[in-house]
Amino acid sequence: MQKRFFLRAIACAALAASATTAMAQDKFKIGLILPMTGPFASTGKQIEAAARLYIAQNGDTVAGKKVELIVKDDTSAPDVTKRIAQELVVNEKVSVLAGFGLTPLALATAPIATQSKTPLVVMAAATSSITEASPFIIRTSFTLPQAAVAIADWAPNNGIKKVVTLVADYGPGIDAEKYFKDRLIFNGGQVLDTLRVPMRNPDFAPFLQKVRDLKPDAVYVFVPSGIGAPLMKQFAERGLDKAGIKLIGTGDITDDDILNGMGEVANGVVTSHHYSASHNSALNKKFVAAFEKANNGLRPNFMAVGGYDGMRVIYEAAKATKGTGGQALLDAMKGQVFESPRGPMFIDAQTRDVVHNIYIRKVEKVNGQLYNQEFATIKDVKDPGKAK
Ligand code: PHB
Repeated sequence: MQKRFFLRAIACAALAASATTAMAQDKFKIGLILPMTGPFASTGKQIEAAARLYIAQNGDTVAGKKVELIVKDDTSAPDVTKRIAQELVVNEKVSVLAGFGLTPLALATAPIATQSKTPLVVMAAATSSITEASPFIIRTSFTLPQAAVAIADWAPNNGIKKVVTLVADYGPGIDAEKYFKDRLIFNGGQVLDTLRVPMRNPDFAPFLQKVRDLKPDAVYVFVPSGIGAPLMKQFAERGLDKAGIKLIGTGDITDDDILNGMGEVANGVVTSHHYSASHNSALNKKFVAAFEKANNGLRPNFMAVGGYDGMRVIYEAAKATKGTGGQALLDAMKGQVFESPRGPMFIDAQTRDVVHNIYIRKVEKVNGQLYNQEFATIKDVKDPGKAK
């Protein structure tokens, strides 16, 4: 009697286990970890909206499996990102980890990707070295060196020879400073000083005063997406523009998410970046219109595009590998070539990093709205950080 009961219990347990496995196999789970609250919440909002748009446009099944997007808020704290990633891999059995709004969040999670052999798609963070932190990392955002070198080539040919750099004091800021400085000096320019501001809640005023006192032709700026508005405001309030000091930078400062709210001070600012919402292509026009329609008129920024393209890379890899995960899925992500709303792009199979055009853009009013208007293109830019 007891033995029969025992056997039945085993049979039930086995069935339950296989049912869960079947259920897991019927789903293709993507763990999307983003800062949804705090100072970098705009990055989370943009990327989540873009991922949902991609799914709405391309269907919620891939390789015969139902796509499940699991969105988690890491509050931009690295230990939280790492813990969430671990839970998503162990409990949810996600096929892909994606998102990563800031460099420290991606770096903290890299070991989880390596240990669990889970592809990790960086949709936002942009320090060059991130892709070297795990062989399972793929990037669809950009790298700071890509953008920084382009503006350092443009500046000295346009009357800007003496520059002070002002960057957020962490990975992407250090990259932005180094690659700009080395290139400007190589091009015969001069860097009068290199200023670094805290990454969180920075008070830009004393730094901008220092810039004013140094009287450069321009201040070159990098601050992460979402927090550029107070810098712009204080740049005007301290009278740097009136003193004839120009503001240049990577496109993070004139981020499409906040550009229109910056007002007149942003008008005319020249930056280098891989994406502008006003990029002139049929695909981009369609993307921007659909994004705005689905999000109460919110304009997509470069974070949204990193998220949208990341979903493309994941979907196509899932199709090619019929929904299997791990190394095969990663391999199918490598080398993808496609047209993005930003223009042509591909994932370099060797470095797993993004290769795309960098555009030089000037803020201009178009139908009463401020946009980064692209006026020069540097084609197929690889991450200069990988050339060494
Ligand atoms: C980063 O932390 O890597 C990062 C964040 C926002 C940006 C660029 C880089 O705009």
